[in-house]
Amino acid sequence: MYIPLLRLIRLCVCGTCLFVVMVAKAQPMKKPVDTIGQKVTALLQQMTLEEKIGQMNQYNGFWQVTGPAPTEANAKLKYEHLKKGWVGSVLNVSGVENVRKLQEIVVKESRLHIPLLFGLDVIHGHKTLTPIPLGEAASWDLGAIEASARAAAEEAAAVGINWTFAPMVDITRDARWGRVMEGAGEDTYLGSKIGMARVKGFQGNRLTDDDAIIATAKHFAGYGFAEAGRDYNTVDVGTSTLYNVILPPFQAVVDAGVRTVMNSFNILNGIPSTGNKFLQRDILKGKWGFKGFVISDWGSGSEMMAHGFAKDLQHAAELSLKAGSDMDMESYAYIGHLKQLVQAGKVPVSLIDDAVKRILRVKFELGLFDNPYKYCHPEKEKTMLYHPKHIAGALDIAKKSIVLLKNEGQLLPLSAKTKQLAVIGAFANDKNSPLGSWRIGSDDNSAVSFLEGLQRMQVPYTYEKGVNVVIGKTAFGEEVSINETDTSGMAAAVQLAAKSPVVVMVLGEHGFQTGEGRSRTKIDLPGLQQQLLEAVYAVNKNIVLVLMNGRPLAIPWAAEHLPAIVEAWQLGTETGNAIAQVLFGKYNPSGKLPMTFPRSVGQVPIYYNYFNTGRPGPKTEVFWTHYIDESRKPLYPFGFGLSYTQFAYSDIKVNATNPHKIEVKITVANTGKLAGEEVAQLYIHQGIGSVVRPVKELKGFKKLMLQPNEKQELTFLLTDAELGFYDNEGRFKVEKGMFDVMVGTNSDEGISSFFEIK
Ligand code: BGC
Repeated sequence: MYIPLLRLIRLCVCGTCLFVVMVAKAQPMKKPVDTIGQKVTALLQQMTLEEKIGQMNQYNGFWQVTGPAPTEANAKLKYEHLKKGWVGSVLNVSGVENVRKLQEIVVKESRLHIPLLFGLDVIHGHKTLTPIPLGEAASWDLGAIEASARAAAEEAAAVGINWTFAPMVDITRDARWGRVMEGAGEDTYLGSKIGMARVKGFQGNRLTDDDAIIATAKHFAGYGFAEAGRDYNTVDVGTSTLYNVILPPFQAVVDAGVRTVMNSFNILNGIPSTGNKFLQRDILKGKWGFKGFVISDWGSGSEMMAHGFAKDLQHAAELSLKAGSDMDMESYAYIGHLKQLVQAGKVPVSLIDDAVKRILRVKFELGLFDNPYKYCHPEKEKTMLYHPKHIAGALDIAKKSIVLLKNEGQLLPLSAKTKQLAVIGAFANDKNSPLGSWRIGSDDNSAVSFLEGLQRMQVPYTYEKGVNVVIGKTAFGEEVSINETDTSGMAAAVQLAAKSPVVVMVLGEHGFQTGEGRSRTKIDLPGLQQQLLEAVYAVNKNIVLVLMNGRPLAIPWAAEHLPAIVEAWQLGTETGNAIAQVLFGKYNPSGKLPMTFPRSVGQVPIYYNYFNTGRPGPKTEVFWTHYIDESRKPLYPFGFGLSYTQFAYSDIKVNATNPHKIEVKITVANTGKLAGEEVAQLYIHQGIGSVVRPVKELKGFKKLMLQPNEKQELTFLLTDAELGFYDNEGRFKVEKGMFDVMVGTNSDEGISSFFEIK
């Protein structure tokens, strides 16, 4: 770094007097002292090889830590390793008492007293659950998303956790993949912004604060592109997709200071991510200069044997380390084999030192060496969980996550005076499913059900379940059984519908039908729900369909026949209150889809930023890119979402005088009768490129509140960051030429203009 120092004195003759002019000259300033770096180095020098390897080892929680020492072989081994300082981190241990107990073992009994990191999947809240991340993404509200992550961090930190395995920044285009619920959807630009907001929320203002927890960008890289949407499946993407779609959200969160990155289960160009040097050393730590550390995914090191990449666990350890995977989650590869690998001269100690330095740095940054118990405050554990401010925040973002998909004849909002409201559907009375599948720290059945939401608003209703969706118990690690035969409640539901003016039907997927290991080939309403829906429709067409699901659903019949459809995802703790408030107009919906809804599973993967192809059509004969049995259009496009009011866009103006700062102005007006929020979205299209560019790319959005008849002019700026792209060698470039620009209410509707970069 350079600062100007008054160095040179120059003489200046001006008229009668002599001026002495002081000229500033850049002078090298001393590099700020990296005190953490010094501490890390000093500690590293004291460490034995075993202790270094221990820091690179992460174990799953394994015994009732507040009880007696373990006797079972595996747990005993882990316990002994803790005492020797051969464990750097544990996951899935929480609760102040448990955390303190383990921390005390390493701090008091191990030779160098190096504190542990406690990791947990705090994905969308800890006790208080906010909507699943795909739902939160539908809010397009970065402030609310950051606040949600902050609340999650406060609760997790209160139970001793200092590390979350979130955010997942995998871009996802395939609704069959169960983990689409965990990401921000299909778009790189939106996904990057949301990833950054979530990292900021988790990590807080200062890592030394006792409610800051480190975040993890996962899964590096390409996991969201599992073939055919089958979890853990092969990934096969081209360089253009890798550089322009998959990698940018990771780079964005690395730039935003995320402290850890988790690699992934999949292969990329035939190399499993955990053993992928190109991804971890060349791109992440090399090109991007990532200073944190890389954690493997669960057992992903040892899984390289099943992939057919590592011949045994020792080989897996060698490949992982050389490729830049710093900490091993539950593979036993490093702890079991790194020492022998060093002794055999197969891996240099310098690679181990680099990994350990990265891990220790994060521990210093968190202030754990000053106070290893900084997350162990029993009083916080009592007061922070389900804190009223977190519940209020969860309700706020739950409402904002809801997307109004259809509202024909203005059936919605319902009037509080609506007499004889009929409610049908098993999920209306479910307090568990709306929590989703990632709710490890929360309590089963802790969501406000939709029926409870109605009760809190004092709305009278009559309820019939209709049909069960799942049979028997549901749990995180188990397959759900779907009811395909029992129609016993159907007749009562139809009868109720027949005598009611309006029917609210709450249908969808169970929370445990989404998430890891929950891929589906049919993405419709599971079980007998479609049959129930059509039976009710036969007697009463005034149906408001409320969808609870963790992925885009293909529901063309509902979209065509029903007057009103509300997408309510799995909204977490405050589910019922949020939906009730939206249906009865206490909150005007403002959510927009972060992922395209297909008409049919056969269209998947379907996304808005596709390439035009050489035969875009349409044509009268068959030789153009289309289906013969289905439209190629989506059911609902990316960015789509209605409001109880209407918005009009006008007066698009583009100023391209400065090619590095193109200004796009647009006026948005509320032309309806209610106040409401709109998300104005800006898309560009580069006409000709040295690598073909998508038909549209989101490059800006603004969420604004407008009163009836109010209008506002918005200004968007397009800089090189928005205008450029990566070529097939991974070089970022901005190319000259013509660009279209569109601003509007979703990726399919807006007003357009164009500009040229000369
Ligand atoms: C998942 C990760 C998760 C890890 C730890 C893995 O199965 O893929 O996303 O963070 O488990 O629970």
